[in-house]
Amino acid sequence: MTSPLIIGNWKLNGTRQKIQESLSILTKEKIIQYKKHIDVAIAPPIVYLSLVNDYLLKNCTYFSNQTKHKYIELCAQNVDINLSGAFTGDISAAMLKDLGVKYVLIGHSERRKYHKENTTYIAKKITTVKKIKLIPILCIGENQQDYDSGSTQLTCAYQIDSVINLTGIQAFKNTIIAYEPIWAIGNGINVCPKHVQSIHEFIRQRIALHDTHIAKQILIQYGGSVNLNNAIQLLEQKDVNGLLIGAASLNMNTFIQIIQTIE
Ligand code: G3P
Repeated sequence: MTSPLIIGNWKLNGTRQKIQESLSILTKEKIIQYKKHIDVAIAPPIVYLSLVNDYLLKNCTYFSNQTKHKYIELCAQNVDINLSGAFTGDISAAMLKDLGVKYVLIGHSERRKYHKENTTYIAKKITTVKKIKLIPILCIGENQQDYDSGSTQLTCAYQIDSVINLTGIQAFKNTIIAYEPIWAIGNGINVCPKHVQSIHEFIRQRIALHDTHIAKQILIQYGGSVNLNNAIQLLEQKDVNGLLIGAASLNMNTFIQIIQTIE
C-alpha cells in the first residue's frame, strides 16, 4: 500500500492574511522530515487556491527527475461537471488543474446536505475529474439516524454502488474514498478505531465484489473529528490509508504536529 494521505480540509474558513500567516509556518525544514513516507495536501477555500499554490511553488518544492514537485499538494473542496463555457459560477476541473490542484473532494456530506448533490451529479463529477487526470476523493458516510438504526453499511454500499452503476467499477481506479460518519464531523467525537476499521473493511469488500485489484489498491481515508490524540490509532487500522482533517487542520501548527506524530 502506498503512503498514507493526510489532507487538511479548511472548509469555508480563512482570510488572505490568516492564510498567509498559516502558510508562513510551513517552512521547508518542517516539511522535509516527513516527506519520506507521508503524502500531504491542503484544501483551502476555492477562491484562495491560487494564493496557496503560489506560496507552495515558491517555498515548498523539490526536484525529482528534472521535474518540480510540491512537498504539499493542493486539494479542491468541490468541482462542477462543465470544463468551460456559459456556466456562471461553475468550478472547472481544467481550471483547478491549471491552478496546481491534484485532488478533488466530491460529494462531501456538507455538499450533499446543503446543495442537495445527488448520486448522478456526483458520478458525473468523478468522470469529469478523471478525464482531466486529477484524483477524485469520493466522500461517503452515514448520518446519525442511519447509524442508530444499524444502516451504516447499507448507506455506504448505496453511495458506492450508485457511482458504479452509472460509471462502472473502473471509475474507482486511481480514485480515493473518504469515509466520514456525519455524526462524528465537527463535534470532537472520537469514533472507536476498531469500528472505523470495520467500515473501511466493508467498503474495500464492496469494491472487491466488482474488481479485486482495484479493491486492493484503493486508498480509503477516514474523516470525522480527527485530532492529535486519535490520529495514530486510526492510521494503525489495516484499511485506514489516510485522514481527512477538518477543524484540527485550521491551526497549521496542530496540522504539522499530527503529521509529525504519524512519522
Ligand atoms: O472533510 C473532513 C471533515 O468533514 C471533518 O471535519 O472538523 O470533524 O475534522 P472535522
